[in-house]
Amino acid sequence: MDPYARLEVDGKQYELPIVVGTEQERAIDITKLRGQSGLITLDPGYKNTGSCESAITFLNGEQGILRYRGYPIEELAEGSSYLEVAYLLIRGELPTRTQLDAWVEGVRYHTMVHEDLRQLYAAFPKAAHPMATCSAVVAALSTFYPEDLNPVDPAQVHASIERLLGKFPTITAYSYKHSIGQPFLYPSNRLSYVENFLRLMFGTPCEDYEPDPVVARALDMLLILHADHEQNCSTSTVRIAGSSRANLFASISAGISALWGPRHGGANQQVVEMLEAIDHEGLTGKQFVEQAKAHDDTSRLNGFGHRVYKNYDPRARIIKQAATDVLERLGVTSRLLEIAVDLERIALSDEYFIERKLYPNVDFYSGVIFKALGIPTPSFTAMFAMGRMAGWIAQWLEYHQEPGNAISRPRQIYTGPTERRFVPIDER
Ligand code: SDX
Repeated sequence: MDPYARLEVDGKQYELPIVVGTEQERAIDITKLRGQSGLITLDPGYKNTGSCESAITFLNGEQGILRYRGYPIEELAEGSSYLEVAYLLIRGELPTRTQLDAWVEGVRYHTMVHEDLRQLYAAFPKAAHPMATCSAVVAALSTFYPEDLNPVDPAQVHASIERLLGKFPTITAYSYKHSIGQPFLYPSNRLSYVENFLRLMFGTPCEDYEPDPVVARALDMLLILHADHEQNCSTSTVRIAGSSRANLFASISAGISALWGPRHGGANQQVVEMLEAIDHEGLTGKQFVEQAKAHDDTSRLNGFGHRVYKNYDPRARIIKQAATDVLERLGVTSRLLEIAVDLERIALSDEYFIERKLYPNVDFYSGVIFKALGIPTPSFTAMFAMGRMAGWIAQWLEYHQEPGNAISRPRQIYTGPTERRFVPIDER
């Protein structure tokens, strides 16, 4: 294959190198385009633009493939644990037993938050959205560890990584406890990562709390499925914030805010609210799908469509099956799951969705299973952030390990008024 792309502008030819990845993806390298031709490219929403080369996650949207460091998501979801996957994403290889034990121990040692940080919650309204409190509290972590904020000092970054992975479940649980006026428990180091989170969420000082192993295993798998997804909106936000050399806490806080949006991670909350509204209003699936074709964000079929997947999101397939299995094992039924399955059946046979290649994405069934596991709806997107924490960290690190990494600063094409003279207000 030709290693160059050729561009002709005003009779002048430019040769642009073609970059080829390990999965044979190809890109035109335009790093020298403006210097050679004075031209820039324009691509609102970056639908055709790669921001980096990355060795972390590979996905093929046409074939519905997703792999973390080469391992298929299906195998990791089945056989691994979230902290092991976090190690894989961040360190690049599956850990040995000794490495994993040290990693888990290091994270577990940092699950407690500073007593003064607990006071921060008292300032928030009870109805504060968990994504607002989590973003604020994660940014506030930087004020408690001023000695560990250097983004290029490996020891300081490692300390921040352990603190983020260790404390985020605690921070999320405290957001929920604050909203219901219940006391904050302290983490328990005798419990696993997810069991500890469940106890912080649903335990009280009044009685012992034993996490349900079925629920814990399902949640751990959901964190794996949400752990990374190449250069999505929030991950790109984390990379861009990191490119200014903002510390890791500040960069992650920015990512949490970007994930909150209903077009992105906020969709899992939107989906469940959509399913509940359909049930409450007695709408049929057909009626709702017809409404969803309107060209505005208000009536969209939330949980459907994806920038990259033009096929079934492999995570949605796993979560759909897990939802059915977990409900069966918990001995409960879910009207919401029935509605979701019906909507999928109708949409996938509807020309509007077929021609636009709109399939269920990770958010379509995740809310149904979060709800079945007892997670409150406003905390769904914080669960997404808990899983994505590993990927954000891995991507932020990869940026900092890139030789000659530059600050991210896109250009633009100006379309405003050309030069004009200032007119003093008395003459306007
Ligand atoms: C996540 O990028 C990632 O990797 C994200 C993520 C991750 O792991 O990080 O996978 C997580 O964010 C999943 C997506 C969650 N969001 C939703 O479920 C919200 C609903 N979906 C959409 O808003 C939309 O599909 C996006 C935002 C996800 C993707 O938007 P694009 O790529 O910009 O596509 P688009 O909005 O231009 O849609 C293409 C067409 C449009 O119709 P036309 O103008 O061509 O006629 O499809 C239509 C859209 O109107 N469309 C939908 C639809 N999604 C797209 N119509 C109805 N219902 C929908 N859900």
